Amino acid sequence: MTAVPVPGAVGPARWWREAVCYEIHPRAFADGDGNGTGDLPGATARLDHLAHLGVDAVWITPFYPSPLADGGYDIADHTGVAADLGTPADFDALVAKSHALGIKVLVDVVPNHTSHRHPWFLEAVAAGPGSRARQRYIFREGRGEKGELPPNDWQSAFGGPAWTRIDEADGRLGQWYLHLHAPEQPDLDWRHAEVVAEFERILRHWLDRGVDGFRIDVAHTLFKAEGLPDAGPGQHQDVHRNHLMPYYDQEELHPLFRDWRALLDRHPAPAGAVAPHERVMVAEAGIFDRERLARYVAPGEMQQTFNFAFLECPWDGPAMREVVEQSARGMQAVGAPVTWVLSSHDAIRPVSRYGGGRLGERRARAAALLMLALPGAAYVYQGEELGLPQAHIPDDRIRDPLWERSEHRQRGRDGCRVPLPWAGSAPPYGFSDAAAEDCWFPQPADWAELSVAAQRDDERSILALYRAALRLRRAHPAPDTVLRLQGPANGEWFSFERSAGLRCLVNFGARPVPLDDRAEVLLSSAPLDGRDVPQDTAVWMT
Ligand code: GLC
Repeated sequence: MTAVPVPGAVGPARWWREAVCYEIHPRAFADGDGNGTGDLPGATARLDHLAHLGVDAVWITPFYPSPLADGGYDIADHTGVAADLGTPADFDALVAKSHALGIKVLVDVVPNHTSHRHPWFLEAVAAGPGSRARQRYIFREGRGEKGELPPNDWQSAFGGPAWTRIDEADGRLGQWYLHLHAPEQPDLDWRHAEVVAEFERILRHWLDRGVDGFRIDVAHTLFKAEGLPDAGPGQHQDVHRNHLMPYYDQEELHPLFRDWRALLDRHPAPAGAVAPHERVMVAEAGIFDRERLARYVAPGEMQQTFNFAFLECPWDGPAMREVVEQSARGMQAVGAPVTWVLSSHDAIRPVSRYGGGRLGERRARAAALLMLALPGAAYVYQGEELGLPQAHIPDDRIRDPLWERSEHRQRGRDGCRVPLPWAGSAPPYGFSDAAAEDCWFPQPADWAELSVAAQRDDERSILALYRAALRLRRAHPAPDTVLRLQGPANGEWFSFERSAGLRCLVNFGARPVPLDDRAEVLLSSAPLDGRDVPQDTAVWMT
């Protein structure tokens, strides 16, 4: 594979190549009005935490009007602000304060589906089969003698068929509509010109409000193969081949994303912007084939695509080494940086994923130093910097549609969407002025030590580790580093150079790894044993 040269210098314009972006899930971040649900004014009031941490950008997950069938990813108005989160003026204030602190702002765009309460879907259901309004979505007749079977075998990401049959206006059972997620999230038909035009309007709307970029939700699913062929048995089972699914990774995505990129590049900078900088798009594309994934960030398309293979990799030296090397190689082929990510609002928290308890904490710290040393961009999900574990949500408080759709076999993702602990000894730990039982999700009783206030001045805390790492990383930029890993063939440990002044070594194995004599330690995820790097430890050194 030959590396594609990167056009242009990595100056402020191309800030995103090395940016650390912090994901805010607003209902669980900070509550400004005391009703128990986090909101935009609450987030604005807490931006100093992020400035202190040293992030370059924030990405705010959907804050748009929504019936909340899927945590806000079921949107009824893509350019509005949900009443429980604030007003458009509150959003403007968040952008203004972020920019004043030197923090860029990304928002979510959810183009695959709308809410079933979106005016377009209400219109489509009312207008009946064959109407123009139905053509914006994917309505089909059912199979079987009386249309009683779904039009094909596609499965929803949350379990069960990806089709729901509607009652027509005259009361008869009618057509089916496609929803790759919950039934409350009907899929749009991206071959319809009005859908294309509407999302250009949405992008422009948020650019005009001053955002610096977009995270594109399930970017790989917008187009479905012509004729909607069956997927066949085993769909969703082999992620490495999921680009072959008829509802994933279709060719027509790429011209669309090139159009969006041109729109972002051409859109005039908002008044008062300090320096001309590129507006960025980051793809949430669940594609694991490296070459297919790299196409989303080929020149002229998006700039970033989350590296989910890294997030999903178990804490295992050889597996990590392979994922890191392959990811770097895949992106290098198109001249794009890797976008590293360890957690999100959809994933089990690293502390719990890597073994839980002290072991999980130790590994999560080492993983953080690994991620933040790697050349490229990184995303940090709220609470990751506090080392929060996955929380248990009682059955009667679960909101994730996975719970019902899986007939209570999967508890879903709520355990990583618990309100942040800011200060104090008991829930709600300064998250809200409301009573703990009225908060968005219940917080564990033993989180006092994990709060921002408890960790802020403790140099052994994971918060201090993230802050130190972000500071050092900024002092050691790595715009052109071609990643080369070194280490023993058994993969127990590996090391690499981020820049001339900073090397990183991670030891996964039981055997301690001695540092060479010249190395000066800059930061380590756990105390070293003299000059030895113990198991589950990462160290940064000169
Ligand atoms: C993305 C979001 C996830 C949501 C899904 C459907 O994967 O991250 O939270 O459920 O899209 O919109």
